[in-house]
Amino acid sequence: MHDLERATPWTERRSVSKAALYDELAGELDGLLAGEPDPVANAANAAAAIYHALPDLNWAGFYFLRGEALVLGPFQGRPACVRIPAGKGVCGTAVVQRRSVLVPDVEAFPGHIACDTASRSELVVPLLVGDVVLGVLDLDSPVLGRFDEADQAGCERLAGVIVPHLGGAG
Ligand code: SME
Repeated sequence: MHDLERATPWTERRSVSKAALYDELAGELDGLLAGEPDPVANAANAAAAIYHALPDLNWAGFYFLRGEALVLGPFQGRPACVRIPAGKGVCGTAVVQRRSVLVPDVEAFPGHIACDTASRSELVVPLLVGDVVLGVLDLDSPVLGRFDEADQAGCERLAGVIVPHLGGAG
């Protein structure tokens, strides 16, 4: 059983490497989602855990692929765009390319979709089952260049932990 009191604020863990911090968060997510079959509940708790564990975020959450469009899933942050066509924006690009998209400066990304004008940088990681894309995990930050390769590797690891708890359909 996950102990909600155990979740350590990320700001108290900054002396540790990012890899170690993502390791810890992956373990927390595994415990948090274990034993619950409902994909909406699991995506909601995963978004909340990530949003509160990682520093300098203004949005963290999921979009799920429904036909040719991504549709907004559970998230933390300000209300966001509901539908994003595959291939559009940072999220839709991650879907068609089936890879993570790291954007140090959203204003330099052609076609970036601004849901929250405070967002300055973004990291989108596809939720993959083999070659099939269920959707994306999307993180936004008000800080320019907030995300680096260590965040990308860490979030890809988190996606690997979360996907088995999404019931296959996302
Ligand atoms: N910026 C994203 C849209 C989603 S919001 O950031 C929550 C994009 O360009 O796809």
